[in-house]
Amino acid sequence: MDPLVLFLLPFISFSALTRAQFSSDTLSLLEFKKGIDGDPTGVVRDTWNPVAWGSAAAVDSCPRSWYGVSCDDSGAVVSISLGGLSLSGELKFSTIAGMRSLRNLSLTGNFFTGRLVPAIGDMTSLQYLDLSANRFYGPVPGKIADLWALVHLNLSGNGFKGGFPIGIQNLQQLRVLDLRFNVLWGDVGAMFSELRNVEHVDLSSNIFYGDLFMDSSRLSSLANTVKYMNLSYNRLSGRFFSNDSMRLFRNLEVLDLGQNMLTGELPSFGSMSNLKVLSAANNLLYGPISEDLFGDAMHLKELDLSGNGITGMWFRLPKFCNA
Ligand SMILES: *[C@@H]1O[C@H](CO)[C@@H](O)[C@H](O)[C@H]1NC(C)=O
Ligand SMILES: *[C@@H]1O[C@H](CO)[C@@H](O)[C@H](O)[C@H]1NC(C)=O
Ligand SMILES: *[C@@H]1O[C@H](CO)[C@@H](O)[C@H](O)[C@H]1NC(C)=O
Ligand SMILES: *[C@@H]1O[C@H](CO)[C@@H](O)[C@H](O)[C@H]1NC(C)=O
Repeated sequence: MDPLVLFLLPFISFSALTRAQFSSDTLSLLEFKKGIDGDPTGVVRDTWNPVAWGSAAAVDSCPRSWYGVSCDDSGAVVSISLGGLSLSGELKFSTIAGMRSLRNLSLTGNFFTGRLVPAIGDMTSLQYLDLSANRFYGPVPGKIADLWALVHLNLSGNGFKGGFPIGIQNLQQLRVLDLRFNVLWGDVGAMFSELRNVEHVDLSSNIFYGDLFMDSSRLSSLANTVKYMNLSYNRLSGRFFSNDSMRLFRNLEVLDLGQNMLTGELPSFGSMSNLKVLSAANNLLYGPISEDLFGDAMHLKELDLSGNGITGMWFRLPKFCNA
């Protein structure tokens, strides 16, 4: 195909687009590439170049020779994976928002900047979105809740700032939510009541607020599935989970609530038979700790309640703690 035609494709009538639907992915990637201005290893610069479409090799339009790009059988791009390449530049997510087949987008461990635009909500095939360890900034748009196929969302280690959007109860497939090390806020109770089926929740090192003493019905979906929950280094205040709530966390293995302002007495951990790591260090918790507080939680390997006003029978704890 004549290269000129490539650039005209978006303007050509729909009937001409049956074959060109795949090539629109290539056009999107070329636009996206314009945002990458630092590429020390040269992999993107050297491989993300238009293929010779007239050639026999280009039967389908998948730019399969491009670093980090892969396609499905129809030639549509399903994955962009550019992790750990020290790439930099201000990315325009609007350039790839039209890639309706894209399932994976991983840009982890680069020096990218830029904002997430609401148009990201158009990428409804997205299952795996990892923008962690970059310099993205600005709010997380509410349209992220339109990504109903999302399984894995990692925005950790950026400068995302603002209220985390409501509406994520739409993300029924979500298993991993990692927002660690940003400047995001929201009421933790509201957040919990929206999360269903999630196994890994890391909200640590943000400014989430609120207390944990909530109606257990708000927790029931999350508590049923969650295995790892890290809420440390936030602004939680008020009381801990109630005994009733604690009984719902059947599968919880790691609970870190350290470095908050939680107050009151600890509930019973006796029903959490899978709990291995518990930290509530440096809060304002008080009261005696007794053996029955941990009941049958025999798998507990790490316990850190330091920096609180907790008193009690510490000599008995080694029975439960191997560490
Ligand atoms: C998406 O990424 C995940 C995790 O890296 C990987 O397991 C999966 O195979 C990828 N899927 C595609 C379509 O590339
Ligand atoms: C999210 O990304 C960070 C940085 O790349 C990584 O260390 C962390 O393990 C990821 N989180 C999950 C749950 O995979
Ligand atoms: C929880 O997150 C904090 C800060 O992000 C980290 O230092 C800590 O190791 C995490 N805790 C667990 C038990 O993984
Ligand atoms: C929670 O359970 C523990 C252990 O069974 C009990 O000592 C404590 O009084 C209970 N707390 C509340 C608020 O009911």
